[in-house]
Amino acid sequence: MSKTVNIDWNNLGFKYMKTDLRYIARWKDGKWDEGKLVKDNQICISEASNVFHYGQCCFEGLKAYRTREGDIQLFRVDQNAKRMQDSCRRIMMPEVTVDQFIDACMQVVKANEAYVPPYGTGATLYLRPFVIGVGDVIGVAPAPEYIFSVFCLPVGAYFKGGLAPVNFTVSEHDRAAPFGTGAAKVGGNYAASLMPHEIARERGFADCIYLDPLTHNKIEEVGAANFFGITRDNRFVTPGSPSILPSVTRKALLEVAKSYLGMEAEERDVYIDRLEELTEAGACGTAAVITPIGGIEYKGKLHVFYSETEVGPVTRKLYETLTGIQFGDIEAPEGWIFKVK
Ligand code: PLP
Ligand code: COI
Repeated sequence: MSKTVNIDWNNLGFKYMKTDLRYIARWKDGKWDEGKLVKDNQICISEASNVFHYGQCCFEGLKAYRTREGDIQLFRVDQNAKRMQDSCRRIMMPEVTVDQFIDACMQVVKANEAYVPPYGTGATLYLRPFVIGVGDVIGVAPAPEYIFSVFCLPVGAYFKGGLAPVNFTVSEHDRAAPFGTGAAKVGGNYAASLMPHEIARERGFADCIYLDPLTHNKIEEVGAANFFGITRDNRFVTPGSPSILPSVTRKALLEVAKSYLGMEAEERDVYIDRLEELTEAGACGTAAVITPIGGIEYKGKLHVFYSETEVGPVTRKLYETLTGIQFGDIEAPEGWIFKVK
């Protein structure tokens, strides 16, 4: 009989939970080993590991969805695999092949099938692949060895409330430099975001918005999600910048807005002092899904988009279509869905 777990699927939030098995592969002497599933969630590595001192690490985030029929599927896992290759290249770590990445994710989902939340709860199984530099090194140099691992845990909403508007404030700090590592999903970007995030939270905001590091005139992104807006003439717009993380969700929404909602959709600059151009705004990402933005505080004034309490009609439609595709209720464009068999 297959295993069952006693979890309150409707009240998960976004908190760590140890599941049964995780995948771990090691890179040594120029190649990755085959990898295997292990029970232990502790990793024992040298005190001189690069990840501890010089931050040689990157990660990914994607989800497994339970469909109405009870199947399990991944959303655009190949995109996460490719982005992790980009991140690895940027900080001199060996790339994991797309096939090994997808295979590792599949193995982890299958091994922890009992933790994939039931259809209809809105909850999902979050997968966290990562690569770290390990082995002994003390000068600033790439590590001699690496670990690639994938673990998973069931999650609910990242921002409290799910499809409910939250307010953000504009940070005075930068998350990434103009020609730095902003487009890579490397640990240092997130370490840099901890203090601005905390300042925003202390002031009652869900998180902060970063402006472009060069001019501080344009919206860049949120600490853990990209930004989008709906213009008065019903266009889907989202900032294009070399220092934001190229979100898989945002890429999908550009397509959803065009092909499913018949809207014009474009990457373009969104100026922080021209927010009145937008009737709705949101944050999008794997963890954030689509989180409507009620308002943005800038220079001491809160600019409210659609409403601080109600979800705008276009944001709702984008949410319903995206999650409909992810949970298998709406037909996906070719190549977006990977069935876990
Ligand atoms: N921006 C940042 C900084 C993120 O950490 C994430 C999360 O992965 C995103 C955007 C959204 O990206 P994706 O849609 O690929 O999850
Ligand atoms: C994700 O959406 O998967 C992310 O990586 C965001 C994370 C920093 C919680």
